[in-house]
Amino acid sequence: TVAVTVGAPALGFTAVAKSLADTVAVPSGYAVTVLYRLGDPLAASVPAFANDGTDTNFAQRAGDHHDGMTYFGLSATGTPDASANGRGLLVLNHENISIRYLHPNGPTNLSSGPRPEAEALKEIECHGVSVVEVTQTNGSWSYVVQSSFNRRITPNTPMSFSGPVRGNAVLRTRYSTDGTTGRGTINNCANGTMPWHTYLTCEENWAGYFRRLAGDATVRTNAGNSKQNESMRRYGITEGRTGNYLWATVSPSDASNITYARWNATASASLAADGTADFRNEPFQYGWVVEIDPYNPNSVPRKRTALGRMNHEGCQVGRTVAGVRPAFYMGDDAQNEYIYKFVSATPWAAADASATDRLAVGDKYLDSGTLYVARFNADGTGQWLPLVYGQGPLTGANAAYPFDSQADVLVNTRLAADALGATPMDRPEWTAVNPVTGEMYCTLTNNSSRTAARVDAANPRAYTDPKTTSGATTGNANGHIIRLRETGDTSEATSFAWDIYAFGAGSDLDPATINLSGLDASNDFSSPDGLWFGLPSNPSGQVTPVMWIETDDGAYTDVTNCMLLAAIPGSVGDGGTRTVTSTLSGTTKTVTTRIGKTPGATLRRFLVGPKECEITGIHSTPDGRSLFVNIQHPGEDAANPNQPTSNWPYSQGGAATSGQRPRSATIVITRNDGGVIGL
Ligand code: FEO
Ligand code: CA
Ligand code: CA
Ligand code: CA
Repeated sequence: TVAVTVGAPALGFTAVAKSLADTVAVPSGYAVTVLYRLGDPLAASVPAFANDGTDTNFAQRAGDHHDGMTYFGLSATGTPDASANGRGLLVLNHENISIRYLHPNGPTNLSSGPRPEAEALKEIECHGVSVVEVTQTNGSWSYVVQSSFNRRITPNTPMSFSGPVRGNAVLRTRYSTDGTTGRGTINNCANGTMPWHTYLTCEENWAGYFRRLAGDATVRTNAGNSKQNESMRRYGITEGRTGNYLWATVSPSDASNITYARWNATASASLAADGTADFRNEPFQYGWVVEIDPYNPNSVPRKRTALGRMNHEGCQVGRTVAGVRPAFYMGDDAQNEYIYKFVSATPWAAADASATDRLAVGDKYLDSGTLYVARFNADGTGQWLPLVYGQGPLTGANAAYPFDSQADVLVNTRLAADALGATPMDRPEWTAVNPVTGEMYCTLTNNSSRTAARVDAANPRAYTDPKTTSGATTGNANGHIIRLRETGDTSEATSFAWDIYAFGAGSDLDPATINLSGLDASNDFSSPDGLWFGLPSNPSGQVTPVMWIETDDGAYTDVTNCMLLAAIPGSVGDGGTRTVTSTLSGTTKTVTTRIGKTPGATLRRFLVGPKECEITGIHSTPDGRSLFVNIQHPGEDAANPNQPTSNWPYSQGGAATSGQRPRSATIVITRNDGGVIGL
């Protein structure tokens, strides 16, 4: 850790009003530059993006649905430079696609197939990750089309497995008969930025892409793999699934091309029971955290199996302290899932931050250690429960799912966490760590299945939002942000104290049951999702940790488009206890929770996005003077691509448009006076 002088805790901008306009709005004195859009070429040989559905070769263009993102400073010699404020590599996820806009008149045969090969290839390549060089020249940011660092990682990019599951029988496929390699990554949501200058990309809603036809369970049972059926049930890969976008229905022109068949997880009774002749095991190759070295375009990304398998939202490292084992915090984004941390087996050595074989450093910290899941107690304390084979219920004697190895525990992280009695949360999304205090924050975006009978201290609200007409209207409709402080302020702790930093709510809703944090018109929000701490410093070297909160909001979009807020939060326990009564569907229950102090002027709306978007990835230059933000899926609700419901980014700043199709994009925000963003 660095010695820091904490600056005066005050935000320095005027709050942006809620808005339904088709533009990115920022405070006065700030400017928005659109930097890197869907379809932008990543090589000089790639034609400009026509944006009419005819474009191809997305393996050399920006993908769709920009999400988690990190800015990595780049030195003149192409190495990591933590003080490079004008040249860097942006690494960002492309979580999903707005499929209608990718083809001239929308997708072909999307309801039942067969899908055309060219359309499916385009859709596949629009997923994954971008590495793109960006530079600031005379104050203006742009991306470098011909940079040798530019790279697209797609669901077709070769990867290797590391950690305890590498080589396990469950990873064997027709592509990787020894279970050590795989192809690609998909539905990459949030991210992680490692102190040794690598990027973690996290596989979230991967399960939806797999086809699993009726009869699969019987074939697996007959093959002696009946445990796999319980595993697939727990991860939502139910029989009868067609698979998102029906890629498995493609008949490729080259019959040996397995790019499409791999999305069919149905086991064939006539093929080898060990899974080496089909793709029955392909779903087990997904649900992992993947490490990428952005400075080496030829490096093979590594799937880090020690971090468990789930709907990984993100993976952020806690404070690193020399000689102390570092922690990595993760959410599993589905209703009533859990919060996890991985504690490395290896104590931190500061010299590793400047090692040149960065993925080898990842091997050191991310391949062996202990995965824990969180239990939140009613008294404001909590435990980290170890997911270790042979301990507690994680043995062959566990009735719901008998475990046979640590690899089995990791592949079936959710089943192991169930057995340990972890606390089901209101959809854990991003995690972020306050770099000064070490406190960990996690967004709980919303939960329409939270009933009044099942509220608890850490998930204390179940109600009907009286205003909203869309999204999660009941349960925990507006979400909250929980935070915890490790016992002894150490990443190695196995217990913690917690409270709820803030509850999302419309500012005009009942302060006794919904607007518990007393939000006002300058800071009311719903469905927190993206979360990140910056540590900007003023010219005298004082730093102020600023937490950025992004929304993905079905429950407030009839009032405002999604937004970004800035916060200078306090600490766990600063607001005391609060009694909350929930009434829903005729059931009433009262719980006592822990709540942060009313944010007031320490939480303020900084940005509102264009129509039908979600605000996703966020990162900044080291000096805090350029803030990169991703705008995901503007205009996603259009039924007809030729009648778009948003024209952003063409509409930015109120510019006249002529019906252009919207594009997900990275923007960069600067201050007209060159100052630090937010302060
Ligand atoms: Fe991809 Fe949980 O948002
Ligand atoms: Ca998210
Ligand atoms: Ca979300
Ligand atoms: Ca999304």
